Amino acid sequence: MDIKQKCAKEALKLIPKSGVIGLGGGSTISYLIDEIKENKLNVQIVTPSVKTKMLCLEKELTVLDPMAIHQIDIAFDGCDEVDANFNALKSGGGIHTREKLIASMSKDYVLLIDETKFSEVLTFKHPVVLEVLESAISYVQYEVLKLGGVPVMRHSSAKDGFTITENGHYLMDVTFSQVSDIKELNVKLNEICGVIGTSLFTKEVTKVLIVDQLMAKEC
Ligand code: 5RP
Repeated sequence: MDIKQKCAKEALKLIPKSGVIGLGGGSTISYLIDEIKENKLNVQIVTPSVKTKMLCLEKELTVLDPMAIHQIDIAFDGCDEVDANFNALKSGGGIHTREKLIASMSKDYVLLIDETKFSEVLTFKHPVVLEVLESAISYVQYEVLKLGGVPVMRHSSAKDGFTITENGHYLMDVTFSQVSDIKELNVKLNEICGVIGTSLFTKEVTKVLIVDQLMAKEC
C-alpha cells in the first residue's frame, strides 16, 4: 500500500461520523477523500482547494462554501515541512491564505505527512511564500530584504507572467538562509502592509500524523 494511502487510512480514524470537516490539498488528501467515500461517512466538507472541491463533487460528497462556516471540528492538510514545535511551511501550493483560514476555523488542524517532511526545527529549504497585493509588490520586496529575505516573484511559465492566486493577488517566494525566531519572523512578515498572508503556520497546527504515528501539541 502507498505510504500516503496508509496515512489517509489512519486519518480516517480521527473523523467524526458526521459534521463539518476541513480538507486541504495534495495527494494524501486525495486518498483521504477516497476513504471518506468508501466508508460512507456522513460529513460535509469545506476546502480551500479547487482541486479538492472537484474531487469531492465527483464523488458526490457534500461541499460547503467556507463563507458560510465559522467553526470546523477537525481539518486535514498536507505541508512541505513541519517541525517538532508544530511550525509548518505550506509553500508549494500557493493557496496558503485560504488554507490558513480553514486551519484557523478548525478546533483541530492535522497535518498528514511522511517522515521526510518532519524536522526537529524548520530548515527553511522551502521559501516562505507571501500572497501580496499588486500595488504593494515593490514595497514588500524592500521590507523583506530588510528582514534578511531574498524575494523572487513566482512566475507562471505557461502564461509568461507572474502567478496570480485565486484571490487575485501575487505570490512572492522569500528565501531565508538563517531564521533565529520563527514566530517573530512570521509576525514581522504579517505586519508588512500589502502582505495578505504567509505560508508559515506557527500557531494553527494541533496534530501531526506521520503515516501512522500521531503527535499532538501539548496545550
Ligand atoms: C503545498 C502543501 C500541500 O498540502 C502538500 O504539498 C501536499 O503534500 P502531499 O501531496 O505529499 O500530500 O502544503 O504547499
